[in-house]
Amino acid sequence: MQSKTPSESRTIMTDMVLPSETNPLNNLFGGELLARMDRAASIAARRHSRRITVTASVNHVAFNRSVPLGSVVTVEAAISRTFRTSMEVFIDVWMEDRFSGERTKANEAIYTFVAVDETGKPTEVPPLVPETVLEKQRYEAALRRKQLSLVLAGKMKPADATELKALFIEKPR
Ligand SMILES: CC(C)(COP(=O)(O)OP(=O)(O)OC[C@H]1O[C@@H](n2cnc3c(N)ncnc32)[C@H](O)[C@@H]1OP(=O)(O)O)[C@@H](O)C(=O)NCCC(=O)NCCS
Repeated sequence: MQSKTPSESRTIMTDMVLPSETNPLNNLFGGELLARMDRAASIAARRHSRRITVTASVNHVAFNRSVPLGSVVTVEAAISRTFRTSMEVFIDVWMEDRFSGERTKANEAIYTFVAVDETGKPTEVPPLVPETVLEKQRYEAALRRKQLSLVLAGKMKPADATELKALFIEKPR
């Protein structure tokens, strides 16, 4: 299967925060942001695999900054690694100051999507070739994140998570 780069499926969605999408503090409601991230990540996974894709897990979401009413929000999703049928998608969220236009990182998340056929059976996806330094870092760390996600889901024995375990074992000097 022909490999692809992250930029071939990168998906960028820009929208603003409307009053119906906010919490009582007039900041973007967390569930609304999750939905926007899921949509962008789903499109990136579909572009990479050219298959039907389903969200298998949401592994890491950090709501580091609140996003005020009226902000312009950009959700950027890119495939960070592929395995046999699954794809890790890294999502960066940026907000743009209404007056200065300055862009700051608001949040990030990591989703896993699985490509499936018309019957819902997982199906193989093209390999990913990371290009930039950041893409290579995210690619490298993705195997440990997959192992952690599978262990937490009860789908992998901790003893089999070799690369994940290696993080906690100090190497002899
Ligand atoms: C996601 C789904 C297709 C996985 O099915 P499954 O029976 O576990 O299939 P498999 O065991 O063959 O796993 C398929 C891939 O998903 C990965 N996977 C499954 N659960 C995972 C998890 N919790 N975290 C990370 N990866 C996971 C497997 O490692 C495998 O990856 P690989 O082939 O790249 O190595 C199935 O659980 C499903 O359809 N879930 C519902 C999805 C959905 O409707 N999402 C929308 C939210 S409502």
